[in-house]
Amino acid sequence: MPIRASEERGGSSAIVDIMKGVFITGTDTSVGKTVVSAAVFHRYRSTRPLCYWKPIQTGIESDDDTATVRALGQCCDSEIFDRGVRLRMPVSPHLAARLAGTTIRLDDVAGLISAGSAKANWIVEGAGGVLAPINDSQLMIDLIEALRLPALLVARSSLGTINHTLLSLEALRRRSLPVAGVVMVGEPNSENRDAIEHYGEIRVIAEAPMLGNLTASSLAFWGRDQFDKNGLLMEHLGG
Ligand SMILES: Nc1ncnc2c1ncn2[C@@H]1O[C@H](COP(=O)(O)OP(=O)(O)O)[C@@H](O)[C@H]1O
Ligand SMILES: [Mg+2]
Repeated sequence: MPIRASEERGGSSAIVDIMKGVFITGTDTSVGKTVVSAAVFHRYRSTRPLCYWKPIQTGIESDDDTATVRALGQCCDSEIFDRGVRLRMPVSPHLAARLAGTTIRLDDVAGLISAGSAKANWIVEGAGGVLAPINDSQLMIDLIEALRLPALLVARSSLGTINHTLLSLEALRRRSLPVAGVVMVGEPNSENRDAIEHYGEIRVIAEAPMLGNLTASSLAFWGRDQFDKNGLLMEHLGG
C-alpha cells in the first residue's frame, strides 16, 4: 500500500470521510491500548487489510508503540504506517512538544493520511486518554474527531474503572463521536463489566486477561479466539 504525506489539508479531509477503522483510546496511559492494537491484527488480518498508526508518540527512547505492535502483532511493513510526531520526553504530548521547543499542529498530524489510506482499515492508537492535551488549545479528542474514526475505549477491569470509563464515554458523546465498544484489560470482573455496559450503554467487546507471558504467540492465541468474539468491530472495518 503506497503511503505518502498528503501535501494539502483539503486532500486529507476528503480522505478521512471514507477512512475505515478504529481509533484506540483509553481511560488512562498504560491501560493496554498497544496490546489491544496488536490483538486486533491477530483477530482480523486474515479477513481484511489492516494498518497500524501511532500519530503521536512521547517517550520514544523507552516507549515505541509502533515497534511493540510490529513485534506483538507480527506485522509486516505494509501493516505499519511509521510516520508522526515522535518526542523524547515521557510526558503528555503538549508538554513533550514544549520541552522539545516545538508545537504539535493537529492539521499536520491529520494531514499525514494519504490517498492510499482509504484502502486499509486503520488501527490508530492515541496517546494517553481522550483529554490528554496535544497543544495549548487542543486535546487528543480533537484528533479523534479530525480522523472521524469510531473510538475503541480500553479500560482497566479493576476498581475505579466504572468512573473512568463513564467519564471517557461522556467526553466522547458530548462531541457526538461514535464509540465502537470497550475492551477491559486485567482480571475479568463481571460486576464492573455489567456496570459499564448498563450505565455506559455500550458493549464490552472483549475482556483481556493479563497474560503471564506476553508474546506474539500468546497474544495471537488469545486474540484469534477471544478478542471481539461476536465480531462487533466488523461494522467499522472494510473488506
Ligand atoms: N493483556 C495483557 N497481558 C499482559 N501484559 C499486558 C496486557 N496488556 C497490557 N500489558 C502490559 O501493560 C503495560 C501497558 O500496556 P500498553 O498496551 O503499553 O498500554 P498503553 O498503550 O495504554 O500505554 C505494558 O507493559 C504491557 O506489556
Ligand atoms: Mg501505547
